[in-house]
Amino acid sequence: MQQRALVERRKGHRIGFVPTMGCLHEGHLSLVKLARSRADLVVLSIYVNPIQFLPGEDFARYPRPVERDEALCRAAGVDVLFYPDRDQMYAPDHSVIIEETLLSRGLCGASRPGHFNGVATVVAKLFNIIMPDVAVFGQKDAQQLRVIQRMIRDLNIPVEIIPGPIVREADGLAMSSRNRYLTPAERQDALCLRRSLDHVERRLREGERDVETLRNEVAGLLACVPAARVEYIEFVDDVTLRSVVRVAGVVRVALAIRIGSTRLIDNTVLES
Ligand code: PAJ
Repeated sequence: MQQRALVERRKGHRIGFVPTMGCLHEGHLSLVKLARSRADLVVLSIYVNPIQFLPGEDFARYPRPVERDEALCRAAGVDVLFYPDRDQMYAPDHSVIIEETLLSRGLCGASRPGHFNGVATVVAKLFNIIMPDVAVFGQKDAQQLRVIQRMIRDLNIPVEIIPGPIVREADGLAMSSRNRYLTPAERQDALCLRRSLDHVERRLREGERDVETLRNEVAGLLACVPAARVEYIEFVDDVTLRSVVRVAGVVRVALAIRIGSTRLIDNTVLES
């Protein structure tokens, strides 16, 4: 892959990169389109990165529909599918990790300690292997996007990061490879995420700016779904990811819940 990347770059071709863990859906494919619009060669990686999963998480059962993913890549016009084996990415005695020490602490980082070290490390490795000019990341994982932007800034990594909007199912559920885990009843319950975000947006239009009020209202909405266990309801500054007490400037409302054994996240940006 590195050799191919060097050849392409020598030809003056711009490389666009979409890192994924596979089980591709329209959300991933929207990132391919964005990459396509910014590059001559689009590389998509599929790698279920063991070091970003905590013990007890879904690493072993993470869906790996390889042939389907390959067909989707072909149909979407991906030029190169980079699909390393589980053991090709890390030497058995690998001992270097990348740690972002600020933005990765709250939100998902609070309940998944070490997760963003795993993400930053594998993304840095993939950048070194694929040598992209631009890389596209979804806003679905808004904290991940911020951590990666901070990493490329702080480590002077010459890759332009392009954010892609969240792609949703017709009923509003954010697309996710993990939606596959949901039973039909859980799938219905999961709509409480989008409903909560809609509620916050509506209340904001009505003039409500107080975060404690908004958080209590969302907690009330989520409490109506007994199967949903709330992990967090956070209102954060969209750049620093610090908690805010009022919605002013650009604030992101981010939610994480568990339904059964499935962890789901969603977010939206609020502009006051
Ligand atoms: P994965 O969950 O497969 O997501 C790959 C990319 O697709 C991420 O940038 C994610 O934000 C984006 N994405 C997922 N669902 C989306 C949706 N509904 N709308 C828009 N974009 C969406 O995120 C990872 O993999 C991994 O952590 C990775 C970056 C590949 C490192 O292992």
